[in-house]
Amino acid sequence: MTLEEFREKVRELKNSGKYPVARSYILPALWIAEKNFPAITHEVMKVVAEELGVKPVEVEEVAEFYAMFHTKPKGKYVIRVCTNLSCMLCGGEGILAKFSDLLGISPGETTEDGLFTLEVSECMGLCDGAPAVTVNEERFLKVTSEKVPEILRKFGWKG
Ligand code: FES
Repeated sequence: MTLEEFREKVRELKNSGKYPVARSYILPALWIAEKNFPAITHEVMKVVAEELGVKPVEVEEVAEFYAMFHTKPKGKYVIRVCTNLSCMLCGGEGILAKFSDLLGISPGETTEDGLFTLEVSECMGLCDGAPAVTVNEERFLKVTSEKVPEILRKFGWKG
């Protein structure tokens, strides 16, 4: 998506009249950006602010606050491993370590080929399936170390 195409999408969103105040469109606009750009850069935030008629700092605050938004370039697939209480008690830390070992990266890093970004997640509301992992929008529940290579292969890992 080009910046101009993105601008048009944000304009359409605003014109939908779904919400009473302009600020309410910041989150959905950032979701469009998250799905279509490697990172929500300052240029992207500027477009959101201009089209919604809000201050750039308001957009930046939202983009920086939520962990699901990436203001730095991310991989094609973002792997999020929950290590909060339920997941931790069910082995979440070990699952994170397994992803880290197989991919050769630490949490917060992206593989050299740009395929995977590994992240630690706060509770994702999937505690009944602990330990939980998401890859982009796909969920994996009751993940075991043995399942980790299988999950990675599904997304093109060649290891
Ligand atoms: S603690 Fe991991 S999903 Fe809730």
